[in-house]
Amino acid sequence: MTKGLDLLIVTLVVGNILGALWLLWITGSVRPTGAADNTTGHRWDGDLAELNNPLPRWWFWLFVLSVAFAIGYLVLYPGLGSYPGSLHWTERAEHSADASRAEAAQAPLFRRFASMDFAQLSRDPAAMSMAHNIFVNTCSGCHGSDARGAPGFPNLTDDDWLYGSDEATLVQTIGQGRMGAMPAWKDVVGEDGVRQLAAFVLSLSGRGGAPADVAEGAAKFQTYCAACHGSDAKGNQALGAPNLTDDTWLYGGSTEEVIKSIANGRQEQMPGHETLLGPDRVRLLAAYVRSLSGAAPAPAK
Ligand code: HEC
Ligand code: HEC
Repeated sequence: MTKGLDLLIVTLVVGNILGALWLLWITGSVRPTGAADNTTGHRWDGDLAELNNPLPRWWFWLFVLSVAFAIGYLVLYPGLGSYPGSLHWTERAEHSADASRAEAAQAPLFRRFASMDFAQLSRDPAAMSMAHNIFVNTCSGCHGSDARGAPGFPNLTDDDWLYGSDEATLVQTIGQGRMGAMPAWKDVVGEDGVRQLAAFVLSLSGRGGAPADVAEGAAKFQTYCAACHGSDAKGNQALGAPNLTDDTWLYGGSTEEVIKSIANGRQEQMPGHETLLGPDRVRLLAAYVRSLSGAAPAPAK
């Protein structure tokens, strides 16, 4: 709980205790009225009078009980800020106790995983079903629960890699994150230049435009694009620059999307997960991602 919430609850409880005590005191004390007929002197409609009787016993004791309960609650349960109450219960402590119980239960499993090499790990059914659960919880929001991705979020099942698929690269990608940056070219080459470049890029996947555009685009490609995508346009995994010759598209392969990629640039970030998951789970996920592209038998679900 936050400090503000703590303070609010304690204020309410203390306020209620004081209010109840005050009520008990006020109603418990005998009010001398001086009237011989034991009335308070309040009258309605002429002859309805209010008797000056003490509270019913059960009502009185209910109040005393609720005050005692509130005081007990204050002493036992978390109160102001860091004061943990004499039961020493806090949500945070309960959560970390749960977490360390789960950690302890999984420790032998992770020791076994650590003794396997990457290929063995990616074929181990227990490892892959645990990885599948972590993937669904942590990664599927971006990559889809089937890991097939969406525009801007790479398909992890197709064995076509922006950054590479060996153990060290995948661990780096998942643990530390990645950010591929494709610059915008509209202002450099103009709209015609973008159109020609798109025609050339699409021609590499067998879908060219007018031959004159393709030729112009090819020349411009060597000037502006080869540094990242390679002079053969097959990409560069050190930069995350995709292969532009395989008709596999991160952002979509329609003429319109390719023109958009070139004109405005593209940028998406893969967040690092090592802090969240720890190194053991990152390696487990790396093996899982590797297994998805058919490099190893599909995991038992
Ligand atoms: C916030 C969205 C997001 C989440 C969550 C996310 N990713 Fe990614 N991931 C991306 C994006 C975007 C890229 C592409 C980065 C780029 O274009 O440079 C990527 C790239 C990757 C790559 C590189 C693929 C290649 O072709 O080289 C792998 C592997 C990967 N993610 C695995 C994971 C795993 C495993 C998780 C869960 C722990 C995860 N991602 C969670 C957005 C996400
Ligand atoms: C500084 C390096 C760099 C340069 C220079 C560069 N690109 Fe890129 N390009 C990238 C990266 C990195 C990506 C992937 C972006 C991402 O992961 O979000 C990309 C993505 C693309 C895409 C989208 C591919 C897909 O699968 O959807 C196209 C098309 C493209 N570039 C064409 C070009 C063309 C044409 C040029 C030259 C005018 C060019 N690039 C110059 C780095 C570069």
